[in-house]
Amino acid sequence: MLNNRSIFITGANRGIGLELVNESLNKNASVIGTFRNKSKAKELFQIKSNNFNSFQMNVTNETSILDVSDKLTKPIDFLVCNAGINNGFGNFFDEDHSQENMLEVLNVNVLGCILTVRSFRKNLNNNAKIILISSILGIQQHNGSNASIYRASKAAVNNIMVSFSEELKTENITVVSFHPGWVRTEMGGPNATLSATESAKSLINCFENLSFKDTGKFFNYDGNQINF
Ligand SMILES: NC(=O)c1ccc[n+]([C@@H]2O[C@H](COP(=O)([O-])OP(=O)(O)OC[C@H]3O[C@@H](n4cnc5c(N)ncnc54)[C@H](OP(=O)(O)O)[C@@H]3O)[C@@H](O)[C@H]2O)c1
Repeated sequence: MLNNRSIFITGANRGIGLELVNESLNKNASVIGTFRNKSKAKELFQIKSNNFNSFQMNVTNETSILDVSDKLTKPIDFLVCNAGINNGFGNFFDEDHSQENMLEVLNVNVLGCILTVRSFRKNLNNNAKIILISSILGIQQHNGSNASIYRASKAAVNNIMVSFSEELKTENITVVSFHPGWVRTEMGGPNATLSATESAKSLINCFENLSFKDTGKFFNYDGNQINF
């Protein structure tokens, strides 16, 4: 249960991250949300709750991540690596997939998760849960030819999830990844099937039901396991 537990969410200023903050607060959790730019975090700053705290953090900057991890005074029960980007639409032959764009996608989506988990390991409570927000586009069976570097980055997210689950097994830490559904955010676009609130509500219910037997698995937002 999230009641009185602490949850740390990256990329919390908009989209799915913001709704994960709101749903966690509805469940009386102690919530920490991170934002990258103050100018894009107005909705986050409007949250008035004693159970909420926010920090500026860029998941591609290890110093910025360590600064925040050093400031935390309470252990984290749920660490949610949600921050992500999709810079490269089209396929590997499209202009959008410039070297610079592809490096940025890998830097934010893949290294961002690795650096965040590494830096916050010391802040994790006993039996903590680490949740990487991945995407169904990353499964090997998916044969879409759009957003190729994004798909590769999310395949890598599921792969590092498995590595972390092994590396943290002796500490009883559960590490999983989730597909949030196709969600109406800046990334998902207006035609997506779920609102950010619907996705976040369902995800939070799933997070509450996680146990150590789930470590190393990839789940849909409705709780069903996905082969990857
Ligand atoms: N929407 C979908 O349909 C969908 C489907 C599958 C998976 N996902 C995944 O779900 C997660 C959230 O997506 P979303 O739809 O909510 O996207 P979004 O609305 O575009 O929000 C992305 C969030 O990530 C933050 N972010 C980006 N780069 C960052 C960095 N270097 N450091 C810290 N924060 C950074 C953004 O901050 P700024 O405001 O500063 O840019 C923003 O808060 C992502 O991992 C995405 O890949 C989404």
